[in-house]
Amino acid sequence: MKKKIVVTGGTGYIGSHTAVELIEDGYEVILIDNLYNSEAEVADRIGMISGITPQLEVFDLCDQERVNNFFSTNKGIDAIIHFAAYKAVGESVNKPLEYYRNNLVSLLNLLDAMKLYGIPYMVFSSSCTVYGQPEKLPVTEDAPTRPAVSPYGNTKKIGEEIIRDTVLSDNNIKAISLRYFNPIGAHPSALIGELPQGVPENLVPFITQTAWGLMDELKVFGNDYDTPDGSCIRDYLHVVDLAKAHVIAVQRLIENRNKSNYEVFNLGTGKGVSVLEAIKSFERATGIKLKYRITRRRPGDIEKIWADPSLANRELGWKTLSSLDDAMRTAWEWEKNIRKKNRTL
Ligand code: UD1
Repeated sequence: MKKKIVVTGGTGYIGSHTAVELIEDGYEVILIDNLYNSEAEVADRIGMISGITPQLEVFDLCDQERVNNFFSTNKGIDAIIHFAAYKAVGESVNKPLEYYRNNLVSLLNLLDAMKLYGIPYMVFSSSCTVYGQPEKLPVTEDAPTRPAVSPYGNTKKIGEEIIRDTVLSDNNIKAISLRYFNPIGAHPSALIGELPQGVPENLVPFITQTAWGLMDELKVFGNDYDTPDGSCIRDYLHVVDLAKAHVIAVQRLIENRNKSNYEVFNLGTGKGVSVLEAIKSFERATGIKLKYRITRRRPGDIEKIWADPSLANRELGWKTLSSLDDAMRTAWEWEKNIRKKNRTL
């Protein structure tokens, strides 16, 4: 029998790519999404890529009655991969209560449901934001977590702690938190990708929208950092590589290969890339000259961070396969696809 996996935030950016990988690996997938930041049609697009359109349940995970109703009527679920969350760093500073309520109440409701309905495994979508500016680079999982610079980041840190405490108190639940560095790119089919609402906050959607002509220019936030070219350094990984790590993590839990009830893994390439290098990569991959300008630093930005992914390499047998240029190319193909069709999706 196929293992049944619930993917919350399943029509979102990373959720949809993970759903494709799960289906292609033979899992049955149920998506849950409130469509706050995504569209139902994504489920069909997952079907176009993978050959199977997953069941999509549209409701809000903050609604405990709906959560319980779902899990009492959908029996035999093996694991939950929990992506559903608000994720705009800047917005979270202005709307902290919305962020804490949405990201944490949904998690509490899911953990309650796991206990109530006997669902043993969760894979949690966390972020390198929990490290703040690390003292040592590359950063390993045992680096101290720091007070988050934004309420969004804090919801990831608190979310991890809630999960850790829950699995430590209940031997029937096991979990893995995956700390992503900077996911970019899109599926090579260009049928799914990132759909930022309004003006994008993140670098790559801003680059592709500038290349398409939606923005006049890209602002590079600072060139006076203590880095070789003065711009900030991040670890950009292809979203398809990231999605595959979730399949491996779920499999590890189902096959009981986890070393403890709660594990944490960094997911990154291990290579730091500056904003100016990222721009060069986009230009190389697409042949498009990007209009950009150096401006002042963005408040709250970390100067430099990149992963030590060796724990995930060793324990999960996972490593990134796509290059930065590949990721930029797919991001561009996706952008063109959305704009050409003049669609919202
Ligand atoms: C931030 C969060 C991360 C979160 C991610 C997704 C922190 C420390 N990091 O990542 O946890 O998962 O957003 O929303 O809170 N840049 C420009 N011009 C732009 C946009 C970005 O120069 O128009 C630069 C930024 O200064 C940064 C790099 O590009 O150096 C990447 O920025 P971004 O894509 O926003 O990601 P993070 O800030 O790393």
